[in-house]
Amino acid sequence: MNILLIGSGGREHALAWAIAKSPRCSKLFIAPGNPGTAALGENVVIDVADHAAVVSFCRLMQVGFVVVGPEAPLVDGIVDSLTAAGIRAFGPDRAAARLEGSKAFTKELCREANIPTAAFATFTDPAAAKAYVREQGAPIVVKADGLAAGKGVVVAATVEEAIEALDMMAAGGLGAAGSEVVIEECLVGEEASFFALVDGETAVPLASAQDHKRVGDGDTGPNTGGMGAYSPAPVVTPEMEERVMAEIIRPTVATMKARGTPFRGVLFAGLMITAKGPQLIEYNVRFGDPECEVLMPRLLTDVVALLEATADGTLGATAPAWREEAALTVVLAAEGYPGKPRTGTVIKGIEDAAAKSGTLVFHAGTKRLPDGTLVANGGRVLAVTGLGTGIAQAQQRAYAAVDAIDWPEGFCRRDIGWRAV
Ligand code: AMP
Ligand code: GLY
Repeated sequence: MNILLIGSGGREHALAWAIAKSPRCSKLFIAPGNPGTAALGENVVIDVADHAAVVSFCRLMQVGFVVVGPEAPLVDGIVDSLTAAGIRAFGPDRAAARLEGSKAFTKELCREANIPTAAFATFTDPAAAKAYVREQGAPIVVKADGLAAGKGVVVAATVEEAIEALDMMAAGGLGAAGSEVVIEECLVGEEASFFALVDGETAVPLASAQDHKRVGDGDTGPNTGGMGAYSPAPVVTPEMEERVMAEIIRPTVATMKARGTPFRGVLFAGLMITAKGPQLIEYNVRFGDPECEVLMPRLLTDVVALLEATADGTLGATAPAWREEAALTVVLAAEGYPGKPRTGTVIKGIEDAAAKSGTLVFHAGTKRLPDGTLVANGGRVLAVTGLGTGIAQAQQRAYAAVDAIDWPEGFCRRDIGWRAV
């Protein structure tokens, strides 16, 4: 079967790496892909926002299955367009992608299904939002309702900081995403990324992971898309997994189905494990990045068979198998990230890094020049994954590979995995 994978990040390189290993995959296309995916399939230039163009490409190239990596095309209804054209696709339709596309939608669903989450209120009137913040006091969390590429959340330590965030959003600092805001109680605990494949009715948990959102060592500095991750996350014990499934995932799946908008795809719950138990911070409707760069290397089961069963509604009693080994990934970012990253700088030594035992180097924001030189072309540029008998060994292998990469204008956190090591 020919497969089309949509996306261009480290997540998509990791997915492409896993898909290309599957006996079910004859030819893999990636749109637009990156220099890493080019070694695993054929990168193709299609305007993913032009659904008719994607459908024509699939017909022309006899693509039997489409895997959508990022959230934007999902929220934009790419799966609806493919399904209407009779092309099978992995990922939720537009109605179910609201779980990520609108924070207010998810909060209402939590209220309806009695899912544990931070207390909240939503506002379109900035004056009312400010009055609420003054009444609640700090710390308090201010979120833009819509998609803001991970930059729409401000955890405010003071009332002034929260008001400043509201002013920024009201002034259009995040575009239309900030025209409605959600204001939340600040949760205290340890965060975890929880993934479940959902086929509309049945939910199958995947391995757990933990991300590192802040740009600096010791979890300092501004939030990013994620600077590194590891799997498994010790905080997600088997008992905790069962609580998350029972209290959060299954009620969500049942409510979406009862509303006539069943969710099919990977449901990614951002959790805070608090003293009272797991609380839902947010949903994403796709794999995490960089979590995917630790999940795929640990997955033993054929990923294509899993994603197809999810799309076809046949997950049943599927139980994916995982390597015993832990995986840890370190993101190398370009100077300036998460602000304006410096692009065009030359990266060397990737082959040496990837040749080390138990390591994988995933490309994200890289570009290959016509003469073969690899240059930085984005904020998060590489994700370097180590596998080991425990998180400590995975960490040591990942950093040994990072140190083999010659890229003076790049940086990484030096403490990925600190909670677990
Ligand atoms: P989100 O985009 O909703 O995942 O939020 C980004 C980050 O902000 C999360 O990973 C948390 O670190 C933090 N955050 C979001 N909501 C809360 C909350 N209610 N309490 C504490 N921290 C939060
Ligand atoms: N690493 C968090 C995310 O993918 O949203």
